[in-house]
Amino acid sequence: MPAKVRKAVFPAAGLGTRFLPATKAQPKEMLPLVDKPIIQYGVEEAIRSGIQNIIIITGRGKSAIEDHFDVSFELENMLECRGKKDLLEVVRNVSDMINVCYLRQKEALGLGHAVLRARELVGNEPFATVLADDVIDSDTPCLKQLLEVYEFFAAPVLAVMEVPRESISSYGVVDAEPVSHNGSRDRLFRIRDMVEKPGAETAPSNLAIIGRYVLTPEIFDSITEVQPGRGGEIQLTDALKHLLRTRAIYAYRFEGRRYDAGDKLGFLQATVEFALKRDDLGDAFREYLKTLPL
Ligand code: UTP
Repeated sequence: MPAKVRKAVFPAAGLGTRFLPATKAQPKEMLPLVDKPIIQYGVEEAIRSGIQNIIIITGRGKSAIEDHFDVSFELENMLECRGKKDLLEVVRNVSDMINVCYLRQKEALGLGHAVLRARELVGNEPFATVLADDVIDSDTPCLKQLLEVYEFFAAPVLAVMEVPRESISSYGVVDAEPVSHNGSRDRLFRIRDMVEKPGAETAPSNLAIIGRYVLTPEIFDSITEVQPGRGGEIQLTDALKHLLRTRAIYAYRFEGRRYDAGDKLGFLQATVEFALKRDDLGDAFREYLKTLPL
């Protein structure tokens, strides 16, 4: 039996330049999709996948994330006094369900560097990594889908999705061969190679890596081995490529829809679609959208 995945690392120390000026003084992870901060969707996905130990890598100006998952005594006291039980539950719900700790990445030196910060806290165990600005809407949580593959193969698993050729150069892309799993041959792949941000003509496939990973602790050594790439950043994809020399790594084409909520258009798409799905808002919002001269 492979070791159980008990911890999830949330790198959230990026600068969020695509969302300036909103991200000048607040983290992009705290931008609300309807009424919940982006990062809460990821934390809820981890909880629904059976992981309660959350490690958030933060940077300067990210204290709102810590406050969000902390107890807000004044607010809770006020809601209690006013008998607002529903709201009290909304405010308490998630923070009651997780053990959360925070680590600082002093400089935004890349995703690989951010993950390496968690080495001591993760220890010698497998762990999940969630990039919260990839928000995923699915029946089975994406992380849970990856964990199921991890439990079968006891090897690192990355979430991938098909992207059109014209946008492939924004992603890390896998060169991979299909593997039969659970009666299908088009979801699971064994990775042969990975390329960060390839050109449309040179991309080895249309399968792009998105922000969900189940990793094994060897990744930390690989991160320390790789040289900083573009912009002095240490890339997680480079470390995974390094690990691939000694270890099988799988890619799983998850079921669900992913929104890049760290990008303005992706954020707007997620906002509209999540609002339309809400019991309390959906009908009124749909009626409103119909009145727009589109
Ligand atoms: P992004 O590529 O989205 O970069 O990072 P970013 O800086 O957050 O945003 P833009 O591109 O400037 O708008 C992917 C993930 O890696 C984390 C980010 O917080 C995000 O979750 N990250 C990135 C770090 O934690 N540290 C880093 O040094 C870089």
